[in-house]
Amino acid sequence: MIPIDLKGKVALVTGVGDNESFAWFIAKGLRAAGATIALACHPRMCGIVESFLTRDQDRDSRLLPDGSELKVDGIFACDALYDTMADVPENVRTDKRYAKFAEYSIQGTVDAVGQKFGGIDIIIHSIAFSREIMKLAKDTSRAAYSEAIGISAYSLTSMMRAAEKYMENRPDGASAVGLTYLGGERVVPYYGGGMSTAKAALQIDAKQLAHNLGSKNIRVNLISAGPYASRAARSIRPGEFEKSIEYAAVRSPLPRPIKPEEVANATLFLVSPLASAVTGQILYVDCGYNAMAG
Ligand SMILES: NC(=O)c1ccc[n+]([C@@H]2O[C@H](COP(=O)([O-])OP(=O)(O)OC[C@H]3O[C@@H](n4cnc5c(N)ncnc54)[C@H](O)[C@@H]3O)[C@@H](O)[C@H]2O)c1
Repeated sequence: MIPIDLKGKVALVTGVGDNESFAWFIAKGLRAAGATIALACHPRMCGIVESFLTRDQDRDSRLLPDGSELKVDGIFACDALYDTMADVPENVRTDKRYAKFAEYSIQGTVDAVGQKFGGIDIIIHSIAFSREIMKLAKDTSRAAYSEAIGISAYSLTSMMRAAEKYMENRPDGASAVGLTYLGGERVVPYYGGGMSTAKAALQIDAKQLAHNLGSKNIRVNLISAGPYASRAARSIRPGEFEKSIEYAAVRSPLPRPIKPEEVANATLFLVSPLASAVTGQILYVDCGYNAMAG
């Protein structure tokens, strides 16, 4: 067996909103492999995530393979809409859910993590948002479209720019893994509101970033995950999302839905030295669905 040992590595994990988020399973996998974990959560989610990390009733969801529990080394507030605090409008600054944090920009979060832990080896980008996710592409407003791309795609570029100095020339190299979806390449009818465009942008951005940062031994890859009923995904169209999971499952070479642990396992491979020559790639963790004609 070739073990994945990430002891001594510092991982900045975005996108944990609850204990069903892909990023939750990825954080568990990274922790089980020995990494130091800094979570960067949306300011509105920090308190909720803290309770998932401590409440007795959620203990099972924290269990790691060796029987220990997921623990993190820091939770940082980060709204991926803002590169620096200078971008934050007054109405957000004074919103009481934000006002308790002095810093929640991408630059500030990355600086705080990089300085606290003396560098960053791993970044997980697991963020997506569209305020018009229920709308077809043709009905999406310009404002929602731009916001979806800003939060769901540009944030990776912003994060990697801020993190470059903390990630360059780390002992085994450093790497970022983002989450994408087939809806960024092919028409998935319900995937409107600017989300399909955001994923298309994220996919070419990841390749650009892989090129731009490769000379510093920073790798950038994406996982294209099959549909998975995270709490957030289920809540968008109750009952409907499960049907799209079933649709993909019966048509996939492996005729079943994916499990979030499988996305975490593939992430561990991509951030590990086993993938030291892998960059600019999209790894499909979708039971092979992308290979089918329909
Ligand atoms: N669930 C699926 O079927 C599926 C399939 C393929 C890819 N993905 C992708 O996986 C990633 C994670 O999705 P998930 O299913 O775990 O859902 P999730 O809702 O649990 O994760 C999305 C996260 O994005 C965060 N977020 C939204 N806006 C933000 C902002 N402005 N600043 C900071 N964080 C913000 C949310 O707080 C949440 O934690 C997303 O990129 C999603 O598009 C999901």
